[in-house]
Amino acid sequence: MAVIGSGPAGFYTAYRVMAKTATRIDMYEALPVPFGLVRFGVAPDHPEVKNCQEKFEEVAQSPDFRFVGNVAVGDASSNTHNPNGAHVPLAALARHYDAIVFAYGASKDRKLGVPGEDLRGVYAARDFVGWYNGLPSGEEGQEHSSGDLNNRIVTDLARADTDTAVVIGQGNVALDVARMLLEHVDVLRKTDMSEEALEALSRSRIKRVHVVGRRGPMQAAFTIKEVRELMKLPGVGLHPFDTATLLPPKLKDLPRAQRRLMEVVAKGSVTPLSEANKMWSLDFCLAPKQFSAGDDAGRVAMATFEQTRLTDPFDSNAQVERTGELMDVPTQLVFRSIGYRSQALAGFDDLGIPFDDRRGMILNDGLGRVLRDVRSPDASMTTKPFPGFYCAGWVKRGPTGVIASTMEDAFTTADAIVNDWQSEAPFLAGSEEGGSGWDGVQAEVDTAGAKVVTWADWQKIDQVELDKGQQLGKPRSKFTRTEDMLAVLG
Ligand SMILES: Cc1cc2nc3c(=O)[nH]c(=O)nc-3n(C[C@H](O)[C@H](O)[C@H](O)COP(=O)(O)OP(=O)(O)OC[C@H]3O[C@@H](n4cnc5c(N)ncnc54)[C@H](O)[C@@H]3O)c2cc1C
Ligand SMILES: NC(=O)c1ccc[n+]([C@@H]2O[C@H](COP(=O)([O-])OP(=O)(O)OC[C@H]3O[C@@H](n4cnc5c(N)ncnc54)[C@H](OP(=O)(O)O)[C@@H]3O)[C@@H](O)[C@H]2O)c1
Repeated sequence: MAVIGSGPAGFYTAYRVMAKTATRIDMYEALPVPFGLVRFGVAPDHPEVKNCQEKFEEVAQSPDFRFVGNVAVGDASSNTHNPNGAHVPLAALARHYDAIVFAYGASKDRKLGVPGEDLRGVYAARDFVGWYNGLPSGEEGQEHSSGDLNNRIVTDLARADTDTAVVIGQGNVALDVARMLLEHVDVLRKTDMSEEALEALSRSRIKRVHVVGRRGPMQAAFTIKEVRELMKLPGVGLHPFDTATLLPPKLKDLPRAQRRLMEVVAKGSVTPLSEANKMWSLDFCLAPKQFSAGDDAGRVAMATFEQTRLTDPFDSNAQVERTGELMDVPTQLVFRSIGYRSQALAGFDDLGIPFDDRRGMILNDGLGRVLRDVRSPDASMTTKPFPGFYCAGWVKRGPTGVIASTMEDAFTTADAIVNDWQSEAPFLAGSEEGGSGWDGVQAEVDTAGAKVVTWADWQKIDQVELDKGQQLGKPRSKFTRTEDMLAVLG
């Protein structure tokens, strides 16, 4: 079986399938290093969340598991973060495996689609998160490369006139971004945050962060642990919001989890505003309208929002109507944190694998079997499982869910694969041709220009990062350029 992607979805699917059947697994990863968002998404000050890597390392120890790192499936555009990587076409994989699991996550971000979104100083949260977590950039110096983007973030954070940041969206990623901007940099120095990001954040002059939602507190996507962390940040105060109109009069009547969350939000920060040296706010019922430049043309100076009205402020599913009333927030730095986005892999069209662009997910039966339209003998179209193709994780259900729910989801996919195999359902042709896996793919595709990273190679990179981290008094010091990762391997 081929698994595309080495994040939680890929590893948990591999783990479960290997536990239930004798299966050989090749795991393809576009980057030279594994673990997806566990390495490049999870906030550096949440090291305990990364403990799942221990389970993944256990999976990788199996003699039936092979890591094919630094190899993207698709075409050259499939490896935007790694110009030093190889790529193999999906069609080649389809010829050499019994089954293929798409677990390649969401490597793009959603856009707001409002005027001014491309002004300097307006960033995707995904780019900021990738930057502070050391996600390798594309080729330095290339127009629009993420290397240039990282340089822009570094410069913009340290500008003398930049003291107010706006984060759009009220999910947990938005809170991660706000926390990184507000937390004392000495706390972050003890984490695996990249050296470059630490240096830039130590020079940041951000004193005020607006976390803006188009709906209210009862509809917010963040969760209690994450909001509580912000409330407890030393020296950081929360501006109060209008609890009278946005929260129900009797919080105690709410279901327990929601009541506790609303109590934390209503209580506010431990540090009173009068004693705070940095501040933040949860700005509710504001829909982004536009961003505009000031004297410095091309650079954001103002975020304009339209006030919204909730159909029912106390209903967690409430929608909003726009009121026409505008509100300006002067700001020099904006992060849109409205969700990640998956896209189709190059090769989907040729193979007939359907992708829902709007929801950013592969069409599947909810259990992980990829679906496709098939013409019946009477010429009508029906949707049926596409033999041998499966999906798991964010590319299966859209870019939401924590590692625990991604694990559950991956287990569901693995169970579908095992059930299909045991009930002798049709699979890909790989078994008929001897299922030669990566050996067969490699014989067919020229990857000679790029180093293919094995698990043993990754362990060498890992060790160098850990050793360097120890010298600096932190858990790990990550390589942020793929050429530096590969240089470890000689
Ligand atoms: C900023 C952020 C912070 C988060 N923090 C937490 C947290 O604290 N706690 C928590 O429980 N959850 C957290 N999550 C959620 C968690 O990270 C996800 O649930 C989980 O990572 C999704 O797993 P996945 O395997 O589907 O995708 P990913 O983790 O994104 O893995 C996909 C992998 O596929 C690889 N890939 C992509 N394209 C290709 C290709 N063409 N060929 C080969 N490989 C490819 C990628 O490089 C990546 O390694 C966070 C998410 C984000 C965005
Ligand atoms: N510590 C953790 O456990 C942790 C940390 C980070 C991420 N994660 C998880 O990773 C997943 C992804 O997180 P996320 O924050 O990217 O996504 P999310 O939880 O889906 O939140 C997205 C936010 O963006 C808003 N939004 C969407 N479209 C918008 C638009 N056009 N205009 C204005 N606002 C818009 C949403 O508001 P509406 O609700 O109004 O649509 C919502 O507030 C979540 O499951 C999250 O819990 C977990």
